[in-house]
Amino acid sequence: MATENPLREGLISERQPEPCTLVIFGASGDLTKRKLVPALFTLFTEKLLPESFAIVGFARKAMTDDAFRAEMKEACLKFARHKPTDAAWAVFAKGLFYQAGEYDTPASYSALEERLVRIDAERGVKGNRIFYLSTPPSNFPITIAQLGAAGLVGRVPRPECFRRVIIEKPFGTDLGTAQQLNRDVLAVLDEKSVYRIDHYLGKETVQNLMVLRFANGLFEPLWNSRYVEHVQITGAESIGIEGRGGYFEQAGILRDMVQNHLFQVLAITAMEPPVSMNADDLRDEKVKVLKALRPIPDGRFDEFVIRGQYRAGTIAGRRQVDYQEETGVTKGSARETYVALKLFIDNWRWAGVPFYLRSAKAMPKKVTEVALVFREAPLRLFGKSASQNQLPNVLAIRIQPDEGVSLRFGAKVPGNTMDIQPVNMEFRYGTSFGNEPPEAYERLLLDCWHGDQALFTRGDEVEASWKWISRVHRAWEASSAGVHSYEAGTWGPAEADRLLFRDGHQWRRP
Ligand code: NDP
Ligand code: BG6
Repeated sequence: MATENPLREGLISERQPEPCTLVIFGASGDLTKRKLVPALFTLFTEKLLPESFAIVGFARKAMTDDAFRAEMKEACLKFARHKPTDAAWAVFAKGLFYQAGEYDTPASYSALEERLVRIDAERGVKGNRIFYLSTPPSNFPITIAQLGAAGLVGRVPRPECFRRVIIEKPFGTDLGTAQQLNRDVLAVLDEKSVYRIDHYLGKETVQNLMVLRFANGLFEPLWNSRYVEHVQITGAESIGIEGRGGYFEQAGILRDMVQNHLFQVLAITAMEPPVSMNADDLRDEKVKVLKALRPIPDGRFDEFVIRGQYRAGTIAGRRQVDYQEETGVTKGSARETYVALKLFIDNWRWAGVPFYLRSAKAMPKKVTEVALVFREAPLRLFGKSASQNQLPNVLAIRIQPDEGVSLRFGAKVPGNTMDIQPVNMEFRYGTSFGNEPPEAYERLLLDCWHGDQALFTRGDEVEASWKWISRVHRAWEASSAGVHSYEAGTWGPAEADRLLFRDGHQWRRP
């Protein structure tokens, strides 16, 4: 069984993962077409999958293997990084199968098991299996319970093969449901076999945050409250809710983006250096950050949390309708499409340093970044007029798009005066490395195949983040204060600017 992931050493190894069948539950859905199978096909073309592999789509919709293959080919032509040639597709498609069934019916799982045993023999897969739960989350508990009842997975590791389960997001909708789901999962599986997906962890630039911090002697000594004045983390999208009204009305941006993606980025930005890059060492450090998040004091939510909802507007020349007019949205809904938070991490490193997080739909552009804003030099040596344009030093890690890192500092303007202007030192992934980074799902699927959980969230991590987020939801439910409006294509409600102005700061305009 694989215990070491060669990718962890930073080397794309020639070593391939072990033979395995990946079963996707919900294979008739959007994620399978847009992300999962295209990622698997790209891994296949890069020779990162073993020769003996199989991919079995499972869903209720009746479909033959050939119909599934045709649908997946079309999806790969559209979405895969490497477009299929007829020759490559012919080989890949031999490993693709489809099995129709009901998620809550034991007979469907015995039929699946029989099929998997046949595929094992046909493809030489040796009984190794990964089950990927890509259905709506309401289906996760029953699918896991049925997998356990059918003996397809179990708490006791099998000496002869591995069985792993990947669980899509969202993992719960509040602390209580996340705890319940963890109980459901751990009733039939050992934590070592559970892979909770947060696709932000699969992004190259999120992983580079760790490299920047821990593989360079330069940054880490400055990475604390002595030098860092505050931190801003932005996860902005220019799209609206894109037809996902039903889902978004339940979720809102705090659940959709902050509880998972932004909190993971926050944890990696703020964590202590782990003892090693092993899954548990890394996750131990992330959990400590999430547990150290200071709860917002009762009655003072408006000083720490601002929520907004977009009105109609124009984004890069495109007309965006009002959230209230989106399909699936209940008229008068107060569901937030924008949230700004001020957080404190009560630990030795970050005591007193505000972390400002914001995430939103319908912003002027898509941008995800982490920015560390440094304290000023202790003395203004060059006089007031010389430094009037001086801005604080900022280290900005651009997660997407234009992936890279920039460092802003003051430089002397050429001439006979000592005027100072801010300038940027830039690193761009595209120009430095030239090649296209892998898709997050490629990396995550491969890591699971290798048995490496480092880029997957652990049960206690998910619960720690829900604990903080659920307090905000409870406060919103109890509060009469409404949601602020902002015009689509702007950077959010004015109240969110005031959240920072009060502290003498302002949001970056990335
Ligand atoms: P879909 O809504 O497209 O559902 C996937 C499949 O699940 C459906 O085709 C359907 O297949 C099956 N299904 C089972 N039970 C139900 C049910 N009660 N209602 C509707 N469908 C059901 O989901 P996605 O593919 O978009 O997403 C899958 C998972 O991935 C979800 O957990 C989602 O939150 C997560 N995710 C998706 C992203 C995306 O970009 N799509 C992004 C990030 C996460 P059938 O009826 O044939 O059984
Ligand atoms: C998903 C959210 O998890 O992440 C979406 O459900 C959001 O609402 C998406 O658009 C953003 O992901 P990315 O990789 O495009 O930043």
